[in-house]
Amino acid sequence: MAGQIPQRFIDDLLARVDVVEVVGERVQLKKAGRNYSGLCPFHQEKTPSFTVSADKQFYHCFGCGAHGNALRFLMEYDKLRFPEAVEQLASRLGLEVPREGADDPRAQARERKRQEGVNLLELSASFFRERLKMPEGQPARDYLVRRGLSEEVQRDFGIGYAPDDWEALKRHLSARGIAEAVQVEYGLLVQREESGRTYDRFRDRVMFPIRDVRGRTIAFGGRVLGDAKPKYLNSPETPVFHKGRELYGLFEARQANPRLERVVIVEGYMDVVALAQFGIRNAVATLGTSTSEEHLARLFRMVNEVVFCFDGDKAGRQAASRALETVLPQMIDGREARFLFLPEGEDPDTLVRHEGPEAFEDRITCASPLSEFLFDQASRGRDLSRVEERERFASQVLKAAQRLPQGMLQTVLLAELARRTGVDQSRFEALMAQEREAAVAPVGPAVPPVAGPVEQGATSDAPPAGGGSLSLVARVLQLLVHEPALVERLPVESDWCPERDGDGVLCRELIRLLRAGRYRSPQVVLAHFQGSAQGERLAALARRELLIPRAARAEELDGLVEYFRRHQMRPSRQERIDALLAKQGAGERLSPEERQQLMTLLAELGN
Ligand code: UTP
Ligand code: MN
Repeated sequence: MAGQIPQRFIDDLLARVDVVEVVGERVQLKKAGRNYSGLCPFHQEKTPSFTVSADKQFYHCFGCGAHGNALRFLMEYDKLRFPEAVEQLASRLGLEVPREGADDPRAQARERKRQEGVNLLELSASFFRERLKMPEGQPARDYLVRRGLSEEVQRDFGIGYAPDDWEALKRHLSARGIAEAVQVEYGLLVQREESGRTYDRFRDRVMFPIRDVRGRTIAFGGRVLGDAKPKYLNSPETPVFHKGRELYGLFEARQANPRLERVVIVEGYMDVVALAQFGIRNAVATLGTSTSEEHLARLFRMVNEVVFCFDGDKAGRQAASRALETVLPQMIDGREARFLFLPEGEDPDTLVRHEGPEAFEDRITCASPLSEFLFDQASRGRDLSRVEERERFASQVLKAAQRLPQGMLQTVLLAELARRTGVDQSRFEALMAQEREAAVAPVGPAVPPVAGPVEQGATSDAPPAGGGSLSLVARVLQLLVHEPALVERLPVESDWCPERDGDGVLCRELIRLLRAGRYRSPQVVLAHFQGSAQGERLAALARRELLIPRAARAEELDGLVEYFRRHQMRPSRQERIDALLAKQGAGERLSPEERQQLMTLLAELGN
C-alpha cells in the first residue's frame, strides 16, 4: 500500500455504504422497528442484544458493548486491517482507493512486487491479443469464427492467441526487462526440472485472460485449436491466482451491468462467452473446480440470486448435490439459489446456439428453486407411500434444513416437509433442536490439555469449527494426523502455514514428510516423531476424537488454508503489539526504537 488514504474518501465511502447491508451479509438480522437486531457475533449469546441502526449507520451490542460503523465492523468481524476494510468497502462500490504521500519502504516493496506481477500479466494479455491479429493468428481467428464469436465479444473478453513457438512470450517479456524467474513465478514460463531450461507454457492456444473483479488480469486459460489434450490449460496457482476462489467472467458481467442482480454459474470458458455472444451477459464459470464456499460468498456479496447450471446426466446431478451442500449455509433470508438442468448432451454454449437466447432465458427463469430441488432429490427413486422410505426422505430434508441459517427459508422448508409427510412441523423442530444440542455438547474421551497459543482469529468467520478449543493450526495438524492422505489437497507451497509458533513449525514439517510420501498411516507418522516434544503433541492430537465426518474433512482443510491465506498479514502485527505490551507489562523498559515501533503499530491498528 503506498500512502495514506484521504479522509475525504473514507467519509464518502461511509456515506455510500449501508451498515445494515454489510452486517446483514454476515449476521442474520431481523427488522425490529426502525432498527435491526440479531445475535451478537462478538460474544456468545442466546437472545439478541445486538442492534444495527440504519439511520445512524451504527451497530451496537447491549451485551458486550461492541460498537461502531461499517468499517469497524469489517475490521472486527473479518479481522481486516483498516486499509483492507476500506479496500473491501470500496470494491463493493467499484471504487479505487486513492492514496496520498508515501508509506514505509516494506509496504512499498510489497506493492511493487504485486504491481510487477500485474504488469507482467497485462503485458502478456496484450501480447496474446496482438498475436491474434497478426498473420500467424489466422488459424485461431478461423477457430473463433467457427465457434461463432464476434470480434466484439472477443474484445470484451480480451481473447488472444499464444503463437506456436516455444519462446515467443519469453522473448517478448525478457526484452521488456522481466526476469525469467518472475515469468516462471506467474506461470507464464515452465521450467524443466533437470536442465532448468524455460519455455512458454501456452503455445498455439486461444487465450482467455482471467480477470479479478477490478479487471486486472491474474491468470490465463488456453484452449487448443484442435482435439489435442489437455483441451484447456490453466495458469498454475501463483501469488495472485487461486483457482478455487476466482470466477471467470465476473468482471465482464459487472462491466456489462453494474447493477447485476443475478448470475448464472456455468462450467466452461466457452459457455460464458457463447452466452455473452447471445446477449446473456451474466454468466460466470468456475475454473474446472466445483463451486466453493468462497465462490458463493464472493457472489452473494454482489448479487442476491445465483443460478447453477448443470448437465442433465448423472455427473450433473452429483455436481448439483455438491453445490446444494455448499450453498445451504449461505442462504440467509433475501438470497436465492436455483438449479438448472440442461438436456443431455448439451452445454450452455451448444444449447443457446440451438434454441436461441429467449429459450435459454426461459430456462433460467424456470430453474428449480433450492427447496424444489432439495425435495426432488430426497424423493428420487423413493416410494413415499412406504413408511421407511418416507422416514429416509424426511431425514434427508431435515439434514439439509439443519445446514440452513435460521430464517424464513428454514421455517418454510420444515412446513413443506410437514405437509408432505403428514408429520407435525413441531416434531421436526424438536428433532432439529435435539441435534443442535448434541452437536455443541463435548463428545469423546477426556481431552488432553492442548499446548500452544490459541489463534486470535478463531471467532465467527473462522472455517467451520470442529475442534473445540484447538487453535487453527492445531486443527490442520489434527486433520493430517488422522487422515494423512489429505496432504494431497494442500497447495504445493506451504507459505499459508504460520511458522511463528511450535504448531506451525510442526505443521510444515509434517506436510513435508507426508509429501515425501513414506508416511501414509497415522501410526507411522507418530512413530517418526516418537520421543520428541513434537511427537507428544501429535499423539495428543491423534487421541483427540475428530468430530468432523469423513466426507467433510477435505472441505474443512480447504477452509482452514483459505482462512490462513486471507488472514496472513494480520496476526503478525497483532502479535508484535502483544509482545511489546507484554514486555512493558513485565516491568521491562522498552528501548526508544521499540517504543516508537509500538506507537506506530498501535496507530496503524486504530487508524
Ligand atoms: P469441458 O470439457 O466441458 O469443455 O470443460 P467446454 O467448456 O465445453 O469447452 P469447449 O466447448 O469444448 O471448448 C469445462 C471446463 O473445465 C475446465 C475448463 O475450465 C473448461 O472450460 N477444463 C476442461 C480444464 O481446465 N482442462 C481441460 O482439459 C478440460
Ligand atoms: Mn462446450
